[in-house]
Amino acid sequence: MSIPATTSQVHGPAIQVQGLEKSFKQVTVLRGVDLAVPRGSIVALLGSNGAGKTTVVRILATLLRADTGTARVNGFDVATQAAEVRESISLTGQFAAVDEILTGRENLVLVARLRHLRQPGAIADELLRRFSLTEAGGRRVATYSGGMRRRLDIAMSLIGNPPVIFLDEPTTGLDPQARIEVWQAVKELARGGTTVLLTTQYLDEAEQLADRIAILHEGRIIVDGTLDELKKLLPAAEVEYVEKQPTLEDVFLSLVGAPKEQEQR
Ligand SMILES: Nc1ncnc2c1ncn2[C@@H]1O[C@H](COP(=O)(O)OP(=O)(O)OP(=O)(O)O)[C@@H](O)[C@H]1O
Ligand SMILES: [Mg+2]
Repeated sequence: MSIPATTSQVHGPAIQVQGLEKSFKQVTVLRGVDLAVPRGSIVALLGSNGAGKTTVVRILATLLRADTGTARVNGFDVATQAAEVRESISLTGQFAAVDEILTGRENLVLVARLRHLRQPGAIADELLRRFSLTEAGGRRVATYSGGMRRRLDIAMSLIGNPPVIFLDEPTTGLDPQARIEVWQAVKELARGGTTVLLTTQYLDEAEQLADRIAILHEGRIIVDGTLDELKKLLPAAEVEYVEKQPTLEDVFLSLVGAPKEQEQR
């Protein structure tokens, strides 16, 4: 079954950001961020701690106002059409926003009810299936692993079928196996045509998932391109880091065993 959409699709890029600036008192965080995210793509916003990734996401999700600049999400202006933007998006923060006492299925049914969708049970079952949580669906979330929790969180964000999804550091704090599970879930989203903007500090995560990678540094997007384009641009030291991380992960996974249903690219 298909999950009913809350908003209609609008033409043009899913996300269009121009000249975004934001300061918190004396601290200038964004100094003119420009970014375009094509519809149906996965774009990774990469940057170190404090670079301003969450700030960008919060502005795009209408939780925070920019000082200057414009941002459109699903064709709607975040400043003047906040309600339409909110109907077009879902935001999954770094810490899973699931209810521990409820089962996975109950969490999904609850959100579907809150969104006034018909057949909340059928929607929950479909999402449990898509995110390989059918067996765990009847168990309390308190018994879930970090990866399962995050997968459930992402499944919850899909309810209402928003065309644009923001994932703020979806795998920070997860072990390599759980990260691969979450990556599979994100790829699943993009296969369904959803636009995904994710933030990450992990180069390998961007490498695994993203069609395009934008690097936020000192308040601006200093590069934006495909992995191949970036590899040609980045200084050697940073490329070394890209290569080291997967190698360690490969060792870990070969010793511990990769998760089931693994779909490596
Ligand atoms: N509400 C706020 N008030 C004051 N300063 C803030 C506020 N929100 C963010 N900042 C500051 O803005 C900067 C960017 O923060 P932000 O959370 O966007 O970074 P980030 O790239 O998401 O970092 P991380 O990788 O650690 O999540 C930081 O210096 C932070 O202290
Ligand atoms: Mg952040």
